[in-house]
Amino acid sequence: MGRRLILAITGASGSAFGVATLKRMIRHPEVEQVALLASPTGRRCLLDETGLKVDDLLALSPKIVHRGEQNLGADIASGSYRNDGMAIVPCSAGALGRIATGISEGLVSRAADVMLKERRPLVLCLRETPLNRIHLENMLRVHDAGAIVMPLMPGWYSNPADFEALFDTFALRVMDQLGLAEEDPRRWQG
Ligand SMILES: Cc1cc2nc3c(=O)[nH]c(=O)nc-3n(C[C@H](O)[C@H](O)[C@H](O)COP(=O)(O)O)c2cc1C
Repeated sequence: MGRRLILAITGASGSAFGVATLKRMIRHPEVEQVALLASPTGRRCLLDETGLKVDDLLALSPKIVHRGEQNLGADIASGSYRNDGMAIVPCSAGALGRIATGISEGLVSRAADVMLKERRPLVLCLRETPLNRIHLENMLRVHDAGAIVMPLMPGWYSNPADFEALFDTFALRVMDQLGLAEEDPRRWQG
């Protein structure tokens, strides 16, 4: 059976990292489907920072299916639906707060809640700076509940030639956390 993943883009700066992660997901031979979700502010940031709309992302691959943020009856809102992991890239402090407190009012936070209760990988690429006490406490809460807190802090040791290389190297590490590691020359070789 191929892997089914969820990629959510919320309203934080850094949506290009989300696009790079989506591209890594669809390129991976074991991935059969990626459910793409974007909050309203996530769509706005995506357009502002990359010039892309959700429809442009859907056109990248037939593996991508779109799920609306208000559609709480969507397949991925249920733990009985087969799914193998979720990444929120970028993850707003607001989305982190909703996940940390179990407020599943939209599909992003509901799908994340499902990941935690089903003990499936949930990677939260938080983007906010500086961090207040509420952010820090929420990160610890989701960590203790099983999420992987992976702030948008890219490594520079791969000497990225451009932003695309930087985004893609970060996406590689998100895939590692989802159990879909691939060989890559930009990994640290010692
Ligand atoms: C242009 C723009 C940039 C933003 N950047 C961030 C950010 O980097 N980090 C963050 O936590 N919130 C940021 N926000 C605020 C969130 O979008 C806001 O709290 C929103 O309610 C989050 O909702 P969502 O998680 O459903 O996308 C930004 C908002 C706008 C309009």
